[in-house]
Amino acid sequence: MHQTNYKIIQLDEVDSTNDYAKKLILEENINGTYVIIADHQTRGKGRMGRTWESPYGAGLWMSLVLGPGLSHDQLVLYNFMTSLTVCETLCELTGQPFELKWPNDILIRSRKICGILLETATKQGTLFLIAGIGLNINQKEFPEPLNQTATSLFLETQKTWERFAVLQAFMKNFDENRIELNTEIFKRWRMMTTMLGKPISVIHGTTQFECTAKDIAEDGSLIVERNGKTDRLYAGDVQIRLN
Ligand code: BTN
Repeated sequence: MHQTNYKIIQLDEVDSTNDYAKKLILEENINGTYVIIADHQTRGKGRMGRTWESPYGAGLWMSLVLGPGLSHDQLVLYNFMTSLTVCETLCELTGQPFELKWPNDILIRSRKICGILLETATKQGTLFLIAGIGLNINQKEFPEPLNQTATSLFLETQKTWERFAVLQAFMKNFDENRIELNTEIFKRWRMMTTMLGKPISVIHGTTQFECTAKDIAEDGSLIVERNGKTDRLYAGDVQIRLN
C-alpha cells in the first residue's frame, strides 16, 4: 500500500495551527507533507474571520501542509478531497450519516461537527496549501450560541473517542485518496451532500438572498439558480444557510 511519509509536529498549545504552519513554511526549509496538531489553540481561526473554539484535548485541531509547487487545480482538488476524506472517515468509523455542505463543512443531523480553513503560502514562487481541520470529538456540551448549531462525535455516538485513532483513520484514507487526485473527487463529493437541488439562503456581506443550490463546478464554485438565472458563488465571499 502507498504510504506517504508524514512529519507530525505535536504541540501542547499554539495560537493557531494554521498560523504555525505558515511560519514553518516561510521560516524553515520544508519538503514533504507535515501534520501540525495541537491539544489546544488560543486563537483558533474559522472561515470569514470567525474564531474556532478549540478546547483542550477535545478535538482534532490540526493543519496539513501540502506542497511545494501546487497548481491552482490541485488546490481545488485538495480542498474537496480533504472534506470528503473527513466525511468518509467519520461514516466509516461510526456508521452514522455524516454529510458535506459546500464549501467544506461536515454536518450530521443539521449540526456542524467539522470545519476546514484553507490558506495558501507562497515561498520562492511556489505554492503551499495549509488545510486546517477542526473536528469536534469529545465535547460533552457547547457554550452559547454554538450549542444551537454544533455537535461532536461524543454527542452523536455517546462514546468517547481516542483522538489519535481518528487521526490515523483519516490519514490512511487521505493517503489513499491522494494517489489519484482527479475530478472523480467531485462525483464522490456530490454523493455525500444533500444540499444540491435544495433551496438555500446566501449571506453576502450585509445582504441575503434565496436561491437553489444546483451543482459544484470544477473550479470549486457553487452553481446556484436565482430567479431563473444561473450564478456561481465563491467560497471566500459567502456564507450559506440550508433552509
Ligand atoms: C470553519 O470556519 O468552518 C473552519 C474552521 C477551521 C478550524 C481549524 S482548527 C485547526 C486549524 N487552525 C485554525 O486556526 N483553524 C483551523
